[in-house]
Amino acid sequence: MKLSSALVGLACLISLGTAQFQPIGVPFKSPVTVAPGFAAKVAFSNLTSPRGIAVDSQQNFLVVERGLGVTAFTRVTTPSVGFQRTVVIKDPSLTHGIQVDGRALYVSNGTAVLAYDYDATTKSVSTLPSYPYVAVDGLPGDGELTTHTILLEKNSAGVNTAFLVGTGPLTNIDPTARDPKSGRSQIRRLAIPPIAPPVFPPPPLHWAQGQVIAYGIRNPAGFAYDVGLTVDPGSTRTLWAVENGASINNVTGLTDRFANDNPSDELLQIEYSTTVTTLAPKSYGFPDCTSLWNPDADPTGVPKYVGFPRGTQVSLNLDKQFDDAWCQNTANNQPPSLNFQAHSVPLDIKFYTGPDPAGAIAESFPSNLSGHAFVSFHGSFDRVPPTGYGVVHVPFPLSAPSTSATPYEFLVQAADLKSCPGTCIRPVGLTFGKDGRLYVTSDLSGELFVLERSSVILQPN
Ligand SMILES: *[C@@H]1O[C@H](CO)[C@@H](O)[C@H](O)[C@H]1NC(C)=O
Ligand SMILES: *[C@@H]1O[C@H](CO)[C@@H](O)[C@H](O)[C@H]1NC(C)=O
Ligand SMILES: *[C@@H]1O[C@H](CO)[C@@H](O)[C@H](O)[C@H]1NC(C)=O
Ligand SMILES: *[C@@H]1O[C@H](CO)[C@@H](O)[C@H](O)[C@H]1NC(C)=O
Repeated sequence: MKLSSALVGLACLISLGTAQFQPIGVPFKSPVTVAPGFAAKVAFSNLTSPRGIAVDSQQNFLVVERGLGVTAFTRVTTPSVGFQRTVVIKDPSLTHGIQVDGRALYVSNGTAVLAYDYDATTKSVSTLPSYPYVAVDGLPGDGELTTHTILLEKNSAGVNTAFLVGTGPLTNIDPTARDPKSGRSQIRRLAIPPIAPPVFPPPPLHWAQGQVIAYGIRNPAGFAYDVGLTVDPGSTRTLWAVENGASINNVTGLTDRFANDNPSDELLQIEYSTTVTTLAPKSYGFPDCTSLWNPDADPTGVPKYVGFPRGTQVSLNLDKQFDDAWCQNTANNQPPSLNFQAHSVPLDIKFYTGPDPAGAIAESFPSNLSGHAFVSFHGSFDRVPPTGYGVVHVPFPLSAPSTSATPYEFLVQAADLKSCPGTCIRPVGLTFGKDGRLYVTSDLSGELFVLERSSVILQPN
């Protein structure tokens, strides 16, 4: 198929057999503001609620288009610089989670982690009737949030040793989540039995067998290992998770004005043991304890917290045995490592490993951001004025005290927050390519976009 050059640059989809093409940089549905030194470019538009994203060995970006399945995005230079989109899996039940590890492609729906046998060179999955293979069954599929984030735990040889799987609450404020056995609002580790050499697909696992590694996290939507900052001695591993606070408008003693600016969304540090017995899982407070973002949000309606430091752990007083003092005791409740503005709705966290020696280009994120964290903010649905709708940079290691004003900065954000949600970007999934660029899905606007170092700063002064 020959495309006339007149077509090049047109902001439309061009069908290339089974793949579609879109030139890089068509305008965002709604304008964005980008931090100095960075550029944001639309890679693909009109997607079906794009959520989780992962990158395969051939640098294809695999995206869960919720309601459709999984699609692959490949950077190409013909007919012009842009991306090719290929449908890899058609399955409208897929919600969010995605991980790829060689030929193993794992995705989640409301009740299971599914495995596909995937070929990165053809961007296709095996059509054998044994697929999709149910790798982990029995995830709680009811409740408010049935998106299950997946992360692969690996050993030092790079062998996948376990699935980490997250679950949300049954209700906005869910008393059943107090009990780690409820399976709600927690992260479980499903260990893959060690088989040498490893087999694919691994033996089937069931949620009920999972080791709870952290609970009382209302919605652990994103979690990741940091980049070598934390030495994991022996069997202890460190994980960072983002947490969305509950809507607290109807909690006794609180007001809408107070709830407009509380509670904090959170960044949590989790330590867990790969040998089950050596480290008991800790609670991060949900549903009883929460973090103050703006203690002075309603000094008349809610005077009791005025002057408290940001991040103070307080009780929602759902049950009088779990009061403020109980919440402030770390034997009961782990406080966050960092507070995000209330209603930001962080959904993913990724650490930058620095430019890949083989992939580094002028647009790669600067190497001094190596080891830093990047968090997607889906954005508020119930705050006036709206907040979030962007991607932030969280400097690592965390140096600012968790009480600091805003120990993070936006790299990209909807330019006109007042118009959001509207057609604003609503970032969900993040992944770095080997090229040191950050690839971001935005479900509401149906966009996949790329954040990169702006070439402007490379010009000699
Ligand atoms: C997305 O779809 C809209 C409505 O069909 C269309 O106007 C627009 O051109 C499409 N955008 C691209 C980049 O194809
Ligand atoms: C998840 O996928 C499995 C395998 O295809 C299927 O049996 C199950 O019903 C799906 N769950 C949901 C909630 O769609
Ligand atoms: C508070 O309660 C009202 C009335 O039952 C309900 O309409 C509203 O959705 C609730 N708000 C929250 C944030 O739960
Ligand atoms: C990284 O280096 C750039 C200059 O190349 C500088 O502008 C920026 O402030 C540095 N960032 C950090 C986090 O050190």
